[in-house]
Order: sequence, then structure tokens, then C-alpha cells
Amino acid sequence: MLLEIKDAHVHYGKIAALKGITIEVREGEIVTLIGANGAGKSTTLKMISGLRPLSGGSVLFEGKDISKMPGHKRVLAGIGQAPEGRGIFPGMSVEDNLHMGAYARRGDASKELKEVYELFPRLAERKSQAGGTMSGGEQQMLAIGRALMAKPKVVLLDEPSMGLAPMLVQQIFSIIKEINRRGTTVLLVEQNAQQALQIAQRAYVLETGHIVKSAPAADLLDDPAVRAAYLGGDLGEAASAGTPPKDATVTRTDDSPEGDEGN
Ligand SMILES: Nc1ncnc2c1ncn2[C@@H]1O[C@H](COP(=O)(O)OP(=O)(O)OP(=O)(O)O)[C@@H](O)[C@H]1O
Ligand SMILES: [Mg+2]
Repeated sequence: MLLEIKDAHVHYGKIAALKGITIEVREGEIVTLIGANGAGKSTTLKMISGLRPLSGGSVLFEGKDISKMPGHKRVLAGIGQAPEGRGIFPGMSVEDNLHMGAYARRGDASKELKEVYELFPRLAERKSQAGGTMSGGEQQMLAIGRALMAKPKVVLLDEPSMGLAPMLVQQIFSIIKEINRRGTTVLLVEQNAQQALQIAQRAYVLETGHIVKSAPAADLLDDPAVRAAYLGGDLGEAASAGTPPKDATVTRTDDSPEGDEGN
């Protein structure tokens, strides 16, 4: 098992955000975590990357208890995260932002840089542009690209499709699939449950700090309760939700609302 979260509790002051959740991620998988606003999805990722301490339970990575390991060491151990609010250095070029992702690891990162540019040609086109002047969608790509520069064994993605134009949403899901195909395990948090369930092997449903369901992703796509709560209910509507209209011509990517950083 690559990553095991056992009976994890996380508090914000006296408020319990995670009330004993258990999640397992095997090497090579895409696992998705779905749930309503405030369910605890981002908290779960922060707990895994070491940004929020546990108040109970444990996190194991490659069989080793990392519950007390500081965040920067978890990055070195192989846990990558595209941080909340994207964490771009606004005054640095795109390429320097990417190099920052490999900084802690040291050594030559030219191979990783080439791979990131392959995955995100947009970043290659704009490698000299200041990070802060990239569009919302482009910054999202930059944040994911930077996480990949550290050569993580597992990458934690918190709503990578948020704020993206429909065509870019499709693109980001294919890129996640490609990242996985190239050997990185993925733990994916998404509001866009339909698409997340389509690319994931397994899924967990989180409700107010509890895991209420865990199943193969394909089963959840057919689960009436999941459909009603997270997939817009109606079968026909949800089934076509993944396909943008034929005449959708989306060329701009800078329509990401700036107020979405808090998730
Ligand atoms: N810094 C904080 N201080 C206090 N409470 C917090 C803090 N961050 C999150 N919470 C609370 O913890 C709970 C879980 O929040 P979390 O951000 O993990 O939810 P989420 O599932 O990611 O939601 P969303 O889909 O809206 O991003 C929420 O009730 C939230 O209000
Ligand atoms: Mg969130």
C-alpha cells in the first residue's frame, strides 16, 4: 500500500473537520475523493501533506508512519501537492516557478522540466512570462507542473478543474490520466464528480468528516444515492455532462474567478 490513512481525526480549534476517516491508495491508482462543500476534502489533503496536524489516527506512506513528519520531508519522501491558492511566485518566470518545485530535491531536473512541458505545452510557450500574469487556468497548470517537478510518487490534487473553461476541464482530466499513465499515483479531490469518477479506479465519498462510501469508481457512477447527491440526479443529464457542445470554441482561459482560492 502506498498511502494509508487510518482513523484520522483533524480539528480546527474545537471543531472536528475529520472524524476518523480511513482511506487507502495503492501504487498506480487514481483514487478520487468526492463530497459536498465543507465535507473535509481539502482538510484530508492538507493532513496527508502535513499542513494540518492529526488529532488522532495515523498516516502511513510506503508502510512507514509519517504522522509526525514535517511537510517538506513528506515532499522529499514522494508526496506532491499542488497547493491551495496555487502558490505561484508571481514575480518569477514560469520556468523559475517550475524549478522551485525541484529545488528541495536538488540535482538535475531537466528531464522533469521536459516532461512538464510535454504535458502542458502552454507552459512551454510561456516559460519566460511572469507567473503572476498567467491566467487562472494557466496558473492551475503551473501549480500541477511544479508539483510534478519534485518527481512525486503520489500527487494530491485539490479541485484541479476549478474555474476552468469547459474545454480546459476536459484537457485537465486527460492530463491527469496521462500523469498517472506515466507512473504517478493520484489522489484527486473534485467537485466535478462525474469526470473524476470516470478517470478514477476507486472513490471515497466524504460527508461532514466521515467516509460514508468507498467503492470502485464505476459503481458510484451507477449508484442512485451518489447520482442524486453529486451527479445532478438525472441519468441522461449526467451522462451528457462530460461532453461539451459541438460548437464550443473556447480560446480564453483566464476566466477563473479570483475568489476561488479558499478551497
Ligand atoms: N482554517 C480553518 N479554520 C476553521 N475551520 C476550518 C478551516 N479550514 C476548514 N475549516 C472547516 O473544516 C470543514 C472542512 O473544510 P474543507 O476545506 O476541508 O472542506 P472541503 O470538503 O474541501 O470543501 P469545499 O468543497 O468547499 O472545498 C469545514 O466545515 C470548514 O469550515
Ligand atoms: Mg476544498
